[in-house]
Amino acid sequence: MIPECRIIDLPRIDRRAGNITPVEGGNQIPFDIARVYYMYDIPGGQSRGGHAHKCLEQLIVAAMGSFDVVVDDGKDRRTFHLDRASYGLYVPRMMWRELVNFSSGSICLVLASLLYNEDEYIRQYDEFLAARPAA
Ligand code: TYD
Repeated sequence: MIPECRIIDLPRIDRRAGNITPVEGGNQIPFDIARVYYMYDIPGGQSRGGHAHKCLEQLIVAAMGSFDVVVDDGKDRRTFHLDRASYGLYVPRMMWRELVNFSSGSICLVLASLLYNEDEYIRQYDEFLAARPAA
């Protein structure tokens, strides 16, 4: 069974000089971190994503600003609004996702369970629907 998308509250170490949020693979999040990437300089109104991953799990964090993540398991669709660096959205494998409504200057930080591999993407929605029941 594929787990659900869920918000994960991350630790937040508050100091007058600023805050720290540590994330350790296998501790705060249910996978080991193989790759980190971040999206920035995103033009207003732009959307990203529009794909699923066969095996990859991710934690998506609004490190700066805000945006919405629309997740779709082939039956239901849900929108999560991310607007703080102290929590993230866990996205399991085989979940269609789109990232929309980026605020100006926002930074989307992604912690991923695998290295980049284009063969592991599903970029056609009908292909995702066909693969999902068997996933
Ligand atoms: P993609 O994952 O499709 O971006 P998004 O879903 O955010 O719109 O990736 C866009 C391009 O960047 C694509 O050509 C693959 C490349 N890319 C890498 O080379 N390495 C990476 O770790 C990522 C995430 C993307």
